[in-house]
Order: sequence, then C-alpha cells, then structure tokens
Amino acid sequence: MSSNLTPSATRRPALDNRAEAANVRAMARGRLITFEGGEGAGKSTQIAMLAERLRAAGRSIVTTREPGGSPGAESIRGLLLTGEVDRWSPFTETLLMYAARRDHIERVIEPALERGEWVLSDRFADSTRAYQGAAGGAPFELIDALEAQTLGAARPDLTLILDLPVEVGLARAAERSHAEVRFEAKGLAFHQRLREAFRAIAEAEPQRCVVIGASGSREAVAEAIWRAVADRLGVQQREGA
Ligand SMILES: Nc1ncnc2c1ncn2[C@@H]1O[C@H](COP(=O)(O)OP(=O)(O)O)[C@@H](O)[C@H]1O
Ligand SMILES: [Mg+2]
Repeated sequence: MSSNLTPSATRRPALDNRAEAANVRAMARGRLITFEGGEGAGKSTQIAMLAERLRAAGRSIVTTREPGGSPGAESIRGLLLTGEVDRWSPFTETLLMYAARRDHIERVIEPALERGEWVLSDRFADSTRAYQGAAGGAPFELIDALEAQTLGAARPDLTLILDLPVEVGLARAAERSHAEVRFEAKGLAFHQRLREAFRAIAEAEPQRCVVIGASGSREAVAEAIWRAVADRLGVQQREGA
C-alpha cells in the first residue's frame, strides 16, 4: 500500500486505523464483579486472591470496597461503621449508603469500567438490600427506587455470594482487630436474616449471582470462585500462570 509518490495520502489512513484500533480497545467496557456475604465470610481475602489471578491472566484490575471506595464515600463509611449500634435507623443508613455508593460509582467504578478495567468490589448494592432491607427493615420501595435512580450503568456482571454458617463468620470476624464493628455487634438473629437474604437474592437472580460455599480453606474457596468467574465471564488462565 505505501508509496513514495503520495506519502501523506497513504500514511495518514494507516495512522488513523491504528488510532481507531486503539480507541476500540480502550472503549471495550470492563466488567463489574461484586463480592457479597456476611461478616467474616472471606470477601476481603478472596478479592485479593482473585485480583492476583485475573492480573496473571492479563486483565487490568481495580479492587475497591463499600461503603467507601472514593474519598467522599470513605468519609461516609466512618459514619456508618463506627459508633453506637443504634446510631442510625435502617432508613437513614440506606440513604447514607446510597450517597456513598453514588460517589463511588461516579468517581471510581464508572471511569474504570469505561477504561476497560475490571472492577472487583467488596460489597455493593445487594448489601443494602440484605443489611438495611431484609435484616434491618428499611422499606424495599425506598431501596428499589434508590437502586433504579442511582446505579446507572454500574450493574454487576457477576456477583459472588460467599455463604457460610453465621457463627463461623462472626467468629472469624471477631479475630480481626478493627474499629468497624457496628454491624458485627447486631446479634445472631440479624446475621441469620442476612444470610437468608443473600441466598434469596441469588435465587431470584441466578444469571447474575453464584453462591460460593465459604466454609472451606482459603484455597478451596478461591478455586470455586475462579471456576465461577471462568465459567460466567469466559476468562482463561495464561499458560504457565
Ligand atoms: N477460608 C478461610 N478459612 C479460615 N479463615 C479465613 C478464611 N478466609 C478468611 N479467613 C480469615 O477470616 C477473617 C475474615 O476474613 P475476611 O476476608 O476479612 O472476611 P470479610 O471481608 O468477608 O469480612 C480474616 O482474619 C481472614 O484471614
Ligand atoms: Mg472485609
């Protein structure tokens, strides 16, 4: 194609094509994978393990968490997770969660997805439905409306629900030393309702959600998660990775 007679005419399209190809690559939207489940289920542990494995498979990965994930949302996290157990009603918590979530989506999740990166979020919208709605009693009409108005295009492509007996999760969580214990302190019945709520969400949306048995070793849970991700999102491990 290239010719010395009309260098600019022949070269320019080639450059344009390359630029276009780069644009198409940049514009392929990323994926949003959310991790859900009760306290101590292993979400934070598993998100780190999956991120490592996906990076080895050649993906650009952003790991983040809720409530929080952006500076504004992290400030709201402090309000939500510390202090007296009854500091907020479930209704007020729902509003705070969604204020934080919107900031997180606008500033972190959506830009990353637009760059083609894969976002792994430690909790997302299902946690509001389970904690504030099913276990806390905040009206589902409120949660439905906020979800519809707030999430925009940030809908999870895959949600991994880590499931294990409530007592096991709380015992694991109790071994961590941290100040964010407001929800851990809510009592066994609350956490039982949570577990049931997450399972009900998975049952209602089987195309999006996979329940992962989380009682086994870290490695066994990581393997089940990897199978779900490979299966649902078509990721393949690189040779030797
Ligand atoms: N499969 C597992 N078996 C035993 N302990 C685990 C397992 N996964 C995580 N843990 C430990 O349990 C605690 C809670 O795990 P974490 O990942 O923080 O849970 P979450 O983020 O869901 O609250 C941590 O101390 C972690 O090291
Ligand atoms: Mg965690």
